[in-house]
Amino acid sequence: MSSFSIAEAIFVLVITSVLGNVNAQLSSTFYSTTCPNVTSIVRGVVEQAQHNDIRIGAKLIRVHFHDCFVNGCDGSIMLDNADGIDSEKDAGPNLSTDGYDVVDDIKTALENVCPGVVSCSDILAIASQILVSENGGPTWEVQLGRRDSRTANRAGTTAIPGFRENLDELSQKFRDAGLDSTDLVALSVLIHLAGQDVQLSFTASTISTAPATRTRP
Ligand code: HEM
Repeated sequence: MSSFSIAEAIFVLVITSVLGNVNAQLSSTFYSTTCPNVTSIVRGVVEQAQHNDIRIGAKLIRVHFHDCFVNGCDGSIMLDNADGIDSEKDAGPNLSTDGYDVVDDIKTALENVCPGVVSCSDILAIASQILVSENGGPTWEVQLGRRDSRTANRAGTTAIPGFRENLDELSQKFRDAGLDSTDLVALSVLIHLAGQDVQLSFTASTISTAPATRTRP
C-alpha cells in the first residue's frame, strides 16, 4: 500500500482543487463546530478495516477517483438502485470497485455522533488522506464541505477512464475533468505501476497510444 501513496496524495490534492463541487466553498474547518471529531471517527473505522483487508486503501481511493470523474466529487457513486435512481455502482466502469461497506460503516459511526452532518463525498476525501498518510505518504489538510448528490448519473460513468482506451482518449477524459497530461501520468501511471494491478498502454518513460491491457483480473 505504501507504494500507492504519492500518486494517491497527488490525486486527492488535485481533485480537491479541481474536481470538488465547483460551487462549494470548501474549508479544512468545515466541521469544527458541527462534528469536531470527524477525522478521528473516520480514522478509527478505517484503521479497523485495514486489519481485515490490506487492500482497503486502494479500494477507497479508487472509489473516490471514480466518484469524482462523474459530476465532480459528490458521493453519487454511493447511491444504490432505487426509484428514480440507476446506480453508478452498477455501471460497467464501476463493476470492479469495492469498499463501499467500509464507507457505510464510517457513515454509520458518524451518524451516531453527528447525524445528518458529514457527506459521503467528504468521508471518501478524509479516508483517502488518512490512508495515504498512514501508509508512508505525505499528509495535508483536507478541504471539506462537499455536498452529496441525491441522484446518480449512470450514463455519466462513461467519463471514467477505461483500460481499453488509448492515450488520446484518456487524455481527453482527463481534460474534460479539468486535468492535464501531467496529472494523467502522475496519477494513473504511477499508481498502477506501483500497484502492478493494471498495465496501461504507456508509462512515464515510454508513451504509446496502444490500448491498455489488464494484467491482474
Ligand atoms: C488512465 C486512467 C485509469 C485507468 C484506465 C484505470 C483502470 C484501472 C483498472 C482496469 C483497474 C483494475 C480493476 C480490477 O481489478 O478489475 C484499476 C485499479 C485501480 N485503480 Fe485505476 N485506472 C486509471 C486511473 C486511476 C487513478 C487516477 C487512480 C487513483 C489515483 C486509480 C486507482 C486505482 C486503484 C487504487 C486500483 C486498485 C484497486 C484495488 O486494488 O482494488 N486509477 N484501474
